Amino acid sequence: MTRPAVWIARRLPDAVLARAASSFDVIVNEEDRPYSHAEIIAMSAKVDGIVACHSEHFSADVVAALDARVRIVANYSVGTDHCDIKAFSDRGITVTNTPDVLSDATAEIALLLMLGAARRAVEGDRMVRTGEWNFWSPSFMVGKQVTGQRIGIVGMGRVGKAMARNARGLCMDVHYHNRTRLPESDEYGATYHDSLDSLLQVSDFLSLHCPATPETRGIITAEKLALLPDGAVFVNVARGALVDEAALLEALDSGKIAAAGLDCFVNEPGGNPAFATYDNVFMLPHIGSSTLDTRNAMGFRALDNLDAFFAGKTPGDLVMPHR
Ligand code: 8YV
Repeated sequence: MTRPAVWIARRLPDAVLARAASSFDVIVNEEDRPYSHAEIIAMSAKVDGIVACHSEHFSADVVAALDARVRIVANYSVGTDHCDIKAFSDRGITVTNTPDVLSDATAEIALLLMLGAARRAVEGDRMVRTGEWNFWSPSFMVGKQVTGQRIGIVGMGRVGKAMARNARGLCMDVHYHNRTRLPESDEYGATYHDSLDSLLQVSDFLSLHCPATPETRGIITAEKLALLPDGAVFVNVARGALVDEAALLEALDSGKIAAAGLDCFVNEPGGNPAFATYDNVFMLPHIGSSTLDTRNAMGFRALDNLDAFFAGKTPGDLVMPHR
């Protein structure tokens, strides 16, 4: 019996590649570079399935041009904003993602960014590293206390819930906004706000955890930032597309936002060089899910989805067009 052919679009961890090779005829992108649209389209004629990362952009025109051979794109990501899901659906191509397995790692990075921004990690690290640390005074490196403060979580999905749990560990007063209220048992004692505006008004710390969808793109505008308490700390491990970066820079200039922790940017890779001049912005290069345990688990989850699909079953993590 011939085995399905699968293109693994980036170099995934060894254990994932080994398992993939045990079930499929795999073509691995050993160079580990993002393929152009034309290369993705050309590759689609050689395979039945693709394991893609958020670095592979499946816009409507790419999806329309994919070869009829390819029947599934099993994403190695929870976010699917790099995929035009409606276009895939129109072509009858199945799309899956990897929820759950990266929630803890991503919430860890949110915690790191929140603490690092509030407690001035960028300045402090530089001072020690460069030998500038040659004095002390009671007013030296005074940051913003996190423990016991109010945090607003935008999007109480899997990662948002993991962040709520982390925040509870710091005795924070957790608030959240979500399209629908969660059952109390899933709220980690957090207070529900039925509007983003209401949440913003109580968010001394604000952490974004919602996907980038047509409804959420650009939700963090100058007007929304103005609703935050003065001197709030802003954290984004979700997607850069949620935020008007120019408005965030203005809020940092005015002091409305005291500090920010950013793992996601409108332009990736690369980020926004304008943030680099701000000592109160702690930045990371989109590494929310980057631990070996999580990278393996994401790969195994993507393979579970492929296994189910090629066995004629419905994959566990089907992504449907946005309603
Ligand atoms: C991943 C992410 O690194 O899963 C996601 O949506 O944003 C990241 O944590 C990336 O997508 C891997 O493709």
